[in-house]
Amino acid sequence: MLKDKTIVLGITGGIAAYKAVDLASKLTQAGVKVEVIMTEAATKFITPLTLRNITHRPVVTDMFEPASEWSVEHVALAEAANAVVIAPATANTIARLAGGIADNMLGTVVLATKAPVIIAPAMNDLMYANSVTQDNVAKLKARGFTFIEPEYGRLASGKMGKGRLPDTATIIQAIEQALGQKRDFEGKRIVVTAGGTREPIDPVRHIGNRSSGKMGYALAEAARDRGAKVTLVAANVALEEPAGMEIVKVKTAAEMKMAVAGAVKKADVLIMAAAPADYQPEAIAKAKIKKESGQNLTLNLVKTPDILSEVRGDFLRVGFAAESENLVANARKKLAEKKLDMIIANDITKADSGFDTDTNRVVIIDKKGKTEKLPLMSKREAADKILDRVRGMVGSRE
Ligand code: CTP
Repeated sequence: MLKDKTIVLGITGGIAAYKAVDLASKLTQAGVKVEVIMTEAATKFITPLTLRNITHRPVVTDMFEPASEWSVEHVALAEAANAVVIAPATANTIARLAGGIADNMLGTVVLATKAPVIIAPAMNDLMYANSVTQDNVAKLKARGFTFIEPEYGRLASGKMGKGRLPDTATIIQAIEQALGQKRDFEGKRIVVTAGGTREPIDPVRHIGNRSSGKMGYALAEAARDRGAKVTLVAANVALEEPAGMEIVKVKTAAEMKMAVAGAVKKADVLIMAAAPADYQPEAIAKAKIKKESGQNLTLNLVKTPDILSEVRGDFLRVGFAAESENLVANARKKLAEKKLDMIIANDITKADSGFDTDTNRVVIIDKKGKTEKLPLMSKREAADKILDRVRGMVGSRE
């Protein structure tokens, strides 16, 4: 996949700059045309000559350097790039990019390119954790930049912390992923629900369930990466908020129904990965219910709105069925009852699939009866498989 690609490798001024030499070497060996841009600070750590010898290409160190092949038409470099990779990226460069500052060649190319930009931060752990840096990272993520998380380990200061540049193989894997990224949901709007609702009993107690939101978040992130405009309706999820999408937070099934009904108005697809409660207490006690010795407590539960069944419109409806027995038969029944376009059946009896795991084992069943049983895979991989099938159905509705 890398062969014959042009990758702009931005190297900035941190101690990890020496590791960029190995990255440039491995990319060149893989058949990549590596165009190196070094910030001035980077040249204090390693020399342009090293990179020139490794890549067999001229190395750009300054926009106005007369000797550079690219110096006049810097935009040509932005256009030629299949990807721009910045490794290592300092806090300073990340801040400049977040601010759209283009006073050096790297900033100019990043501003002018349409290619995916992959940033591998490496710095002192406190600089990385600083909220200014984190805000800048979030801003760039929201604009579609891919970040490779720094690793925990020994830093240049001698201290242990999170700030190390990941190894070359990890960075190359991220580049391959960015290059292979499908953009087949460009122009499509998807609403994804995630998490489990909580139905209050009194001011301190609720009825909840074990849904972590991981499957829904994986779907929302995969759809975003494939170009969709995503609205994520999240109920009580403790995961890090994904960038680059609209997030609506809700607590109860009734709130989720309102949020979904609003969000689907312009949507092409609704994927209900959330676990809304099926029942809610008939009344919410205004004051905390006190225990009475020797007394049992009976709660009267009434049905919550069935969101999938009740929210209708001209969009594809995809449901989930969490089952502990008769997986496919029960899922088919739900598909028919709720008149869905597709249902994802999910075996919750195994330790490695279902609630709060990073992996899942799903069966995709569509309204025509086609049943596809997928092996154990990460929730992100399962999300992409589900979206592959959803994309086929959205297309057929056009
Ligand atoms: N769902 C919904 N609104 C509810 C409950 C569930 O939209 N109040 C959605 C879920 O998000 C999921 C699908 O419906 O996509 C699951 O169908 P459902 O029959 O409600 O599943 P369970 O609640 O698991 O049903 P049962 O307890 O009967 O197995």
